[in-house]
Amino acid sequence: MRVLVTGGCGFLGSHVCEHFKKKGWDVISYDNMTKYELKRTGYGTDATRDYNWNYLKSLGVTMVKGDIRNLEHLLDRTQDCDFLIHTAAQPAMTVSWEDPEHDFTTNVVGTFNVVETARKRKIPVVNTSSIHVYGNSINDSLIDEEMSYTRNPVEIPETQAVMVGKISPLHASKMSAEHYIQTYRDMYDVKSASFRFTGIYGERQFGGEDHGWVANFAIRSVFGLPIRIFGNGKQTRDILYAGDGADSYLKFFENQISGTYNIGGGKEHKISLLQSIYMIGEILGKKPEVIFEADRPGDMRYFICDITSAKKFGFDPKIKPKQGIEKLIRWVEENKSVFQMK
Ligand SMILES: NC(=O)c1ccc[n+]([C@@H]2O[C@H](COP(=O)([O-])OP(=O)(O)OC[C@H]3O[C@@H](n4cnc5c(N)ncnc54)[C@H](O)[C@@H]3O)[C@@H](O)[C@H]2O)c1
Repeated sequence: MRVLVTGGCGFLGSHVCEHFKKKGWDVISYDNMTKYELKRTGYGTDATRDYNWNYLKSLGVTMVKGDIRNLEHLLDRTQDCDFLIHTAAQPAMTVSWEDPEHDFTTNVVGTFNVVETARKRKIPVVNTSSIHVYGNSINDSLIDEEMSYTRNPVEIPETQAVMVGKISPLHASKMSAEHYIQTYRDMYDVKSASFRFTGIYGERQFGGEDHGWVANFAIRSVFGLPIRIFGNGKQTRDILYAGDGADSYLKFFENQISGTYNIGGGKEHKISLLQSIYMIGEILGKKPEVIFEADRPGDMRYFICDITSAKKFGFDPKIKPKQGIEKLIRWVEENKSVFQMK
């Protein structure tokens, strides 16, 4: 079996490539290697940009440098593929409002090309979406706890209204991408899913303030640098270990129940920014320094996925936050030389 993973050299994409390779698949990583937001982390160097490329190459993954905005090239590279997994994206809220055209061409045009490729090649496709599509009106119904937020009911299903509250270009591009996936399913019978991911974390995540907060906190804490928090730090998610996220694509392929799914850890993985920093401090045996700054516009303060629908095709997150954050910290400690911290 052969799978092509767009954005294969990204954080999530690299876990997907690794997972399928270890299950015996032929894997093609398809990535343009822009790593746009890496430049803004403060440690974005050639070494960080190429880390996942070199790692996947060492596993025997076929590496292709290509851009999802080029339909002909994507079609050419998907000959003989059985499955298409789409993780390439402009994933950061901040970048989307600073450069909406980049966000649009990558997330909307790029996803259109991916689903058009799936149609022409007659293969199933999974689009990687985000809980951002629900919008920020969730912020209006939160209950304050000492170190986190909660809500009643705690978990949010896919039937929750989408695009409610103040939305950004990222909301619009992710939602448009989902619309194309659904349209191609209805119109052309393309077996497909959109996975609305919660916050994901794990090894090989070069997280910064724009995107990837668990990794950002872990990396800065390992280096003894202060962590900046925008808002009060009670922002809460059901964080998902990337390996569990990678397995969701395989489970979809095995069962091929088309649809739109929340993919997160559910209430057993509920953790706030403050709680995650406390946990990192416990693992490292030193308390991270925290600086508080004003809220950022568009920030979603709470999301816990109801994952009942995804469980129907076999999704089953196994790694709990403590275990996953320990893995992430060990990886940072073992790869200190890759980060050029400022
Ligand atoms: N990381 C999270 O917490 C999180 C949460 C929810 C949803 N998601 C979604 O998961 C997906 C992957 O996110 P990530 O965190 O791995 O991001 P990432 O930035 O690490 O990976 C994205 C990859 O896509 C590549 N890429 C960008 N534009 C491209 C193009 N035009 N052609 C080919 N490749 C291109 C980049 O080079 C990068 O390697 C995104 O769709 C994101 O919205 C991520």
